[in-house]
Amino acid sequence: MKQLWNKGFQPDQLIEKFTVGRDRELDLRLARYDVQGSIAHIKMLRSIGLLTQEELDLLLPALQDIADSIERGEFVIEEGVEDVHSQVEFLLTARLGDVGKKIHSGRSRNDQVLVDLKLFFRDELLRISEAVERLFRRLQSLSEEHRDKLMPGYTHLQVAMPSSFGLWFGAYAESLTDDMQMVVAAYNIANQNPLGSAAGYGSSFPLDREMTTELLGFANPHYNVVAAQMSRGKTERAVASAIAAVAATLGHLAMDVCMWMCNNFAFVKFPDQLTTGSSIMPHKKNPDVFEIMRGKCNRLQSLPNELTILTANLPLGYNRDLQLMKDILFPATTELIECLDMADFMLGHITVKDDILDDRRYDYIFTVEDVNRLVLEGMPFRDAYRTVGIAVQNGTYKPTREVHHTHLGSIGNLANSQIAAKMDAILSQLRHG
Ligand code: ARG
Repeated sequence: MKQLWNKGFQPDQLIEKFTVGRDRELDLRLARYDVQGSIAHIKMLRSIGLLTQEELDLLLPALQDIADSIERGEFVIEEGVEDVHSQVEFLLTARLGDVGKKIHSGRSRNDQVLVDLKLFFRDELLRISEAVERLFRRLQSLSEEHRDKLMPGYTHLQVAMPSSFGLWFGAYAESLTDDMQMVVAAYNIANQNPLGSAAGYGSSFPLDREMTTELLGFANPHYNVVAAQMSRGKTERAVASAIAAVAATLGHLAMDVCMWMCNNFAFVKFPDQLTTGSSIMPHKKNPDVFEIMRGKCNRLQSLPNELTILTANLPLGYNRDLQLMKDILFPATTELIECLDMADFMLGHITVKDDILDDRRYDYIFTVEDVNRLVLEGMPFRDAYRTVGIAVQNGTYKPTREVHHTHLGSIGNLANSQIAAKMDAILSQLRHG
């Protein structure tokens, strides 16, 4: 193995394998950002006189070539190279000789990986927000489409009060707006420039950190170099919380669908080809998609916990433990987006049962409606409650089956356009922030 830090002795191969871990594979996702960070850094080095214009003119096209090879999918981290930061520097040195060795002035892999991660998380959070938005729009349009279709609402898993598919779909849409606030918060935490913090304590070179902040499109620098290094872990935990928030909502939705697909409910169904079968029971049409989604979303909710435990009580400054966060978080962003896209796809094929509440088993769903009707006719609420309660108790209750909800956010007034405006306002912080 050739290391950037090699100073004449070769570390044991077992040690290398153990410490490098999955970096060679995971770091590929950071490659484009690593080059982006290096381009900003060398432009800044030129501005403070640490590189000549001729050197910059050699380095920039060479880095651009590497960037192009990354976009073409041709970039690899070679066997024997530790990580993406080393690979980029080795490629430059192989091509340009000593000039390639100059780009690391005033830098450390500690701030390099921090920059890469922040740029990477920014993009991943944008991808997550796009997938959330797609599902949000789907849920809102289903809510409008099925606004008049009533279904039972449950408390304690006992039939409770009338609900509707408009309310149900719309509820998950609005719930996603809260999760999107977490995505925005994580984005804002990621959107700060750690470059120039070097190993975590800055540099004696007069680095222009405002310049690299601007070049990389960060909102502001992480000013204090120690705080910048501390943001490794903090940023990941914020991203994990955002992922877990979305996953909690999606997992809940998946559970509802599994339940509503159950034969005893049969409120919703999907085309046969979107269900799965049993190897022994010929009649089965199982909701495996939503079960896998529920399981994945439950696992994703453990992310903040995993990262908290991994980083709890680490000493100040860089520690190699931090590397392991990539193993935990990188697959998670992809998994969440896959789940969101799958939910969007499946819901595009959902069929909703009509006239569910005509079934006698839901008669008691109308008791509160009837109590309220008596109240509107002049009876005090507690008397009306007793009147209907006694009828239920005596088996003489006859539902009027009239549902008339008009207040904001209720069955008859879903407020979907207000919810859309709320989501748009949150999204605009990301898109123009
Ligand atoms: N692979 C390392 C990580 O992800 C890169 C930084 C290495 N820095 C160091 N001092 N060994 O954390």
